[in-house]
Amino acid sequence: MEAFQKQVGQPLSRLEGQLKVTGTAKYSGDYQVPGLLYGYVINSTITKGKITRFDTSRAKAVPGIVQVFTYENRPSLAWFDLQYADMDAPPGSPFRPLQDEDILYNGQPIGLVVAETFELARYGATLVDVEYEEEAFETDLRKETPKARSPKIGMATMLKPLPPKPKGKFEKAYQESPAQVSAEYYHGTEHHNPLELFATTTIYEGDGKLTIYDKTQGTVNSQLYVANIFGLKYKDVRVISPYVGGAFGSALRPQYQLFLSVMAALELKQSVLVTLDRQQMFTFGHRPPTIQQTRFSADMDGKVTAMNHLAIGETSRFEDYTEVVVNWAHMLYPAANTLMQYKLVELDVYSPLDMRSPGGSTGMHAIESTMDELAYKTKIDPLQLRLINYSEDDVSLNRPYSSKELRQCYLQGAEKFGWDKRSPEPRSMRRGNKLVGYGMATGIWEANQLPAKAEAILTTDGKLRVNSAVTDIGTGTLTVTTQIAADELGMKIEDVEFLYGDSKKPFAPIQGGSFTVSTVGSAVKVAGVALKKKLFSIAKKMKDSVVSKADLKEVVFEDSRIFLRSDRSKSISFLEIIEANGGKPIKVSKFSVPSLLKQKKYSRATHSAAFVEVEVDEQLGIVNVTRAITAVAAGKIINPKTARSQILGGMIWGISKALREETIQDFNLGKYMNQNLAEYHIPVHADIHDLDVIFVEENDEIVNALGVKGVGEIGLVAMPPAIANAIYHATGKRINQLPIHFDSLL
Ligand code: MOS
Repeated sequence: MEAFQKQVGQPLSRLEGQLKVTGTAKYSGDYQVPGLLYGYVINSTITKGKITRFDTSRAKAVPGIVQVFTYENRPSLAWFDLQYADMDAPPGSPFRPLQDEDILYNGQPIGLVVAETFELARYGATLVDVEYEEEAFETDLRKETPKARSPKIGMATMLKPLPPKPKGKFEKAYQESPAQVSAEYYHGTEHHNPLELFATTTIYEGDGKLTIYDKTQGTVNSQLYVANIFGLKYKDVRVISPYVGGAFGSALRPQYQLFLSVMAALELKQSVLVTLDRQQMFTFGHRPPTIQQTRFSADMDGKVTAMNHLAIGETSRFEDYTEVVVNWAHMLYPAANTLMQYKLVELDVYSPLDMRSPGGSTGMHAIESTMDELAYKTKIDPLQLRLINYSEDDVSLNRPYSSKELRQCYLQGAEKFGWDKRSPEPRSMRRGNKLVGYGMATGIWEANQLPAKAEAILTTDGKLRVNSAVTDIGTGTLTVTTQIAADELGMKIEDVEFLYGDSKKPFAPIQGGSFTVSTVGSAVKVAGVALKKKLFSIAKKMKDSVVSKADLKEVVFEDSRIFLRSDRSKSISFLEIIEANGGKPIKVSKFSVPSLLKQKKYSRATHSAAFVEVEVDEQLGIVNVTRAITAVAAGKIINPKTARSQILGGMIWGISKALREETIQDFNLGKYMNQNLAEYHIPVHADIHDLDVIFVEENDEIVNALGVKGVGEIGLVAMPPAIANAIYHATGKRINQLPIHFDSLL
């Protein structure tokens, strides 16, 4: 008999891939129902002040335009901040769409035109006259740095720890060290631009019931948000989101199109679709512009003696959005003297929002560029410098890592890349008329786990169905959880169905932070274990059961059967168990909770090392990332294909962050100026060359029962500094502002 094929570790293609590429998969804006109305949002054209007059009469006179909602005619809503606070809300007072006449930021939604067609609604929006009284505002982070202050602490701080306490005597140690490096780093605002635009279709079911197709990273998050604000029963609000066309953090929080769609549907007692257009994608959430200063020092043998890392990030006037920016250096490098500082500046902008490896990709840009500088100062190879300062433990918190195979990332990455062919001097490598540079950097990201629930059902036809409210934002969640479930029960992949993206299903938190496989995968696993036990207990009691005297350890689940380990000719099929159960399905449902007691003693993180080759044309200033390799240690890799794809996506984003991506601000207007994909630059196919991924073997029995750490963000973290370091190696120019513009290299 052929060995039974296990699924975990197999490079399975996305189970929903065909549906997506053939356009069969429905996104939140694709649900046509009879009588569906279309909403178009009106956004503020000023940055701060008050609306003094709204005239909606011209719009309302157009046949087919049903209603124009503004703060003047919106329904009365929840009072308390807490009712507007979603699972990802930072401390403060969440933004309330159409609350009153106050304008808090440029692009704020101030009205919704509802019409029989999208085009009519959009036309109607041009007919609404708004008058404002403008007030003074400030959107320039650099100008306001004297006002930087400590962040407020709130619930979100649990997943976003504040900086570690200072250690030793930074100033003294720094001054006394022979090698010192200090620099300032900056990146501006970046906006989420997933392919799928934000859309919500609210189906008005009557009796206070709503079915909502929402672009979200958390169906339960949107459900609670809607129920709390509109005073509905949780059970009457169902949020569905099976397919998401990219999110990357943008849909961690409910966005205003959800609010507006639900509000209009409830008021008009009709189904309403609200879609944002590409320009409106720049009117909520963004990666905050951040200023960083580093001062690192070392002995001439390369041992880092002191590290000071200060970050000043942007936040809004109404919430304290925070990121983990300055905690990483000391998690990696065991300097005895550290001073880590994190501050916020309030500006007249919308609250920033997590964007793929929030904080981590920001902080590591400064940290790993500074380490590179230190390598030149001490005349030590950059990779060697990392190895000299390699720490097995997390010295920032004085505890071991649950696992850390970063050394292998360095070694295997360097080997495959050919790092030893690098000549140390800047400007010493050429190819034709181009300068060639090799750069490397370290990546680190947290490996978290949250509680989640899953339900597992053996159906009457002997198949497995697993249910969870979790979304799949394009990461491969569906495929990976199906693999985990199949292996737990010993079934073929085609006999397992994972149903998800629905708030009616068992609880899952928002999808993000690279914690979804550890969180929902673990829930699927415990539900699978419970179902096995239940099947086994039924099998034992069957008439003439071949497993009647066996215990669970003495059997094996394979091929949809329970086999006796000692005699593989004896087995009971799942279908026979269903029959013994009176032909009824067998169902279990289990909560998985991270074992905090065990985890608390360890730091848990993924690590990576990125190696990059650039070619720089000095006459044109053009930079090409000709080759890049990222070696990743992320625990067990459930699916090497989907995981590789996550890392590649992160690496491409790293190229984008280093060389392309930025939202341009006009501080006089308080406005983002390049709100479109023509002027918001991202890499295209022609920018992407030879990318490679290595998964280093890493066994972790502490992080969770699956041994997984997550791969959603780690691919991005090390790329921007590796590229900046390669550019320095190629040109001798250290550019600390991202993206690196071609004119800075001329
Ligand atoms: Mo991720 S920025 O947590 O979606």
